[in-house]
Amino acid sequence: MKEALAFLDLHPGDRCVDGTLGDGGHSMAILEATSPNGRLLALDADGAALERARQRLQPFTDRVVLVNDNFANLATVVRTHGFAPVPGVLLDLGLSSWQLSEARRGFSFSDEAPLDMRLSASQPFTAAEVVNTYSQEELSHILFTYGEEPQARRIAQAILRRRPIATALELAQAVEGVVPRRGRRISPATRTFLALRMWVNSDLENLQAALQGAIGVLKRGGRLVVIAYHSLEDAKVKRFMRQEARDCICPPEQVPCVCGHKATVKVLTRKVVMPSAEEVARNPRVRSARLRACAAL
Ligand SMILES: C[S@@+](CC[C@H](N)C(=O)[O-])C[C@H]1O[C@@H](n2cnc3c(N)ncnc32)[C@H](O)[C@@H]1O
Repeated sequence: MKEALAFLDLHPGDRCVDGTLGDGGHSMAILEATSPNGRLLALDADGAALERARQRLQPFTDRVVLVNDNFANLATVVRTHGFAPVPGVLLDLGLSSWQLSEARRGFSFSDEAPLDMRLSASQPFTAAEVVNTYSQEELSHILFTYGEEPQARRIAQAILRRRPIATALELAQAVEGVVPRRGRRISPATRTFLALRMWVNSDLENLQAALQGAIGVLKRGGRLVVIAYHSLEDAKVKRFMRQEARDCICPPEQVPCVCGHKATVKVLTRKVVMPSAEEVARNPRVRSARLRACAAL
């Protein structure tokens, strides 16, 4: 949180966009940093999360615009609400503590609610449809690619044997049946859940659209700060920022340049920024956080 705010480098009166409102913690800090009259536009694809955060942000109502939309549409939302060009955009990816602990949509292993995993009902299919209708090869591919799960084939086989799977609890049991816990603190189903959630919500595609959209609405010198918790997402952010910081993106053997690409940002984090030991001790869920930031040219 402290590092994210430092990289956003906001001043009193600034506008700012929080693409991932969640529990509203970062949004509150942004409102405080831009006090007394800075304005915040915050998005969340999850309407229930947005309504919860609305309560928390009550004291700042006249300075806040909340929009229930996917950050893939960030540029359009920002322009529609007159926030462009904007001095700061924050993306804090993944799920909020509330979403992870709330047993209702199949995000947590012990969840006996239907296995859904969609952030929004506008996503075309649920996790239950994926685990109950996809072929073993398709499931194995998703678990391997998005969850980086070394046991993807065995888990896919176990899912097919266990079908129909109705709840997150049943899915977790199917995985634990073939990949025993063996004293590990983290459930062997963690990677499977992550992979399905990313597939159901098109996370990587939405992230790409959000990064491009954010660059397009930043004012000169404006900052984009992204916090990722998954190596694939962090790799995408790193590649995007490095590419946008280059004047030419032709392959090295292409001389002279034919792409005509011009640098749009300066990367501010030469090395990825990790949370301090103190922050991890306070909130262990941030242990895998990776922060990267850039400034618009
Ligand atoms: C890690 S939480 C953000 C926590 C927040 N920064 C805070 O301080 O409380 C991520 C939030 O982003 C939302 N989210 C995830 N993917 C999204 C997307 N594609 N579009 C919009 N919101 C998304 C989730 O619903 C969740 O509420």
